[in-house]
Amino acid sequence: MCGIFGYVGHQEDAADIVFEGLKRLEYRGYDSWGIAVKKPGTGSKNTFAIRKRTGKIGNAKVSDLPKSSFGLGHTRWATHGGVTKINAHPHTDCTGSIVLIHNGIIENYEKLKKNLIAHGHRFVSETDSEVAVHLIEELNKTCSFTEAVRKAFLKLEGLNAIIVMHPRAHTFVGVRNGSPLVVGLGKGGNYLASDAAALLPHTKKVYFLEDNDLVVADAENVQIIEVKTGKRKKIKPRTLTWSIKQAEKGKYPHFMIKEIHEQPSILSEIASSGLSNAKKLSKHIDQAFDTYMVGCGTASYACIAGSYLFSKIANRHINWAVGSEFGYQLDFLTPKSLVMALSQSGETIDTLEAVKKAKGKGAKIFALVNTLGSSLYREADYSMLIGAGPEKAVASTKAFTGKLAHLVLLAYALAGKPKSGQSTLLKAAKASKTVLTPESRARIKKLAERMKNKEHIYVIGRGLSYPASLETALKIKEISYIHAEGFAAGELKHGVIALVEKGTPCIAFLPNDETYGANLAGAMEMKARGGSIIGISHKPHEVFDFYIPVADAQEATIIPNVIVGQVLAYYLAIARDLDPDMPRNLAKSVTVK
Ligand code: M6R
Repeated sequence: MCGIFGYVGHQEDAADIVFEGLKRLEYRGYDSWGIAVKKPGTGSKNTFAIRKRTGKIGNAKVSDLPKSSFGLGHTRWATHGGVTKINAHPHTDCTGSIVLIHNGIIENYEKLKKNLIAHGHRFVSETDSEVAVHLIEELNKTCSFTEAVRKAFLKLEGLNAIIVMHPRAHTFVGVRNGSPLVVGLGKGGNYLASDAAALLPHTKKVYFLEDNDLVVADAENVQIIEVKTGKRKKIKPRTLTWSIKQAEKGKYPHFMIKEIHEQPSILSEIASSGLSNAKKLSKHIDQAFDTYMVGCGTASYACIAGSYLFSKIANRHINWAVGSEFGYQLDFLTPKSLVMALSQSGETIDTLEAVKKAKGKGAKIFALVNTLGSSLYREADYSMLIGAGPEKAVASTKAFTGKLAHLVLLAYALAGKPKSGQSTLLKAAKASKTVLTPESRARIKKLAERMKNKEHIYVIGRGLSYPASLETALKIKEISYIHAEGFAAGELKHGVIALVEKGTPCIAFLPNDETYGANLAGAMEMKARGGSIIGISHKPHEVFDFYIPVADAQEATIIPNVIVGQVLAYYLAIARDLDPDMPRNLAKSVTVK
């Protein structure tokens, strides 16, 4: 959701550093942005130059902001109050000398605001965030600034992260509880960001704040204090393994298509490096009395796929649930239960909360995440990295197939046939590469051109092709804004077929498995009602109006099949003149409920 980037150091171009940092966070999704830098020559009292704008950063410039070595920026995804310049962050106190940015939702903001107004504070925005800066101003009347931030934070209800610029020193004071915050430990300067990937051009040495960590950072030093006790805490920095190149578009016009193309090599890499982890983790699954998988959006579809993979390959029943619902159905968890949480960002609040509730019941947690040091990564008893590299497009692609790859390995390891997992995955990598050849992409692009003005698209599959259908429909919805529905083909006759009319595009996944015949029947039923059938299969069939070949990769055929869906969604967005990387209303990492 909102992005945060701050710099304090010896370089005089804080405005540019922060601006570039915000651009690296654009992918998270936002609707307005703002930057504050300390004005030069203002002695012991900081006064700030603040720039706020609605809309995207685009070609904006910040070269007219004063030279400074202390700056803070924010990209806002509106929750409380509309998308206006005034509601954009940073926010200031009544005197304009305390500058604050905030991520999260202050659940008790109305009560706090009423109280502060009674004490004479003047509010200018409609946001919940502004409450925090006035609260700090109020508390700072009777205690030190850091102490005021600490005490103020303790009064905020909800999951939040705030960063405040000290009114009298070149010092940031930041705190988190729930919303991510990471400190970049640089040479001659320090950084604060909501996302480690934004720090890559400056430093790889980072500290991920834990819940209720308070950070005090100036150009030279970084101190961590436990917010509840006020006691200092020793920090253990980590080294980021991602490279700057991985977080850039390179020769590609969009992150999404770049990330789609990275998949074959990521799959091959997982096939070779993921085996030992799969063997280790499968032991925990084996020992658990009951196992659940939980995730949101695309990650939840990986969970559904996982439930089929474990059943098919390892004869093992695994339940799944979306993160936001899991909390309502975990009464039966015990200390013998294992909960597998799947997430690209490792920060999805619904998944995190589900995990915390499960922990409360004594269950063991396994996290399969793409982001080192993320909240889920740290919350879990056992964590495993997907290894897909930074995923910047809002629509998840390589993290999804990366999750599937690990699940294939895990299921085979559980079945005692780890090597078969590896060879199946290598077949999927090869088939995926074929889907991404120029000829294959041209074919899918042609299909997108034909479909670009359709209002509805239906996608059907059975077995592992059911989650493939859900995921394909989600990709199409997210970035092309065409209404798409994925469903289990067997459900057609139970209602959905009423929607099929002449020319309705119906995508059918028909891999070389036990679902082929029954799914083909579904495609025929749609065709009989006028549907235009797009067959994704290892072999052509006369019922298809359009055929996209995908080589058989046994249980892992879901991977190349989904890649066809990703490429189709991408070209649909392009054909409709939309930016696939930044779909409207969506954020990359959903850190509020
Ligand atoms: O970071 P996570 O994998 O936990 O994210 C979960 C969902 O928010 C995410 O997959 C979302 O559905 C994507 N926009 C899908 O493309």
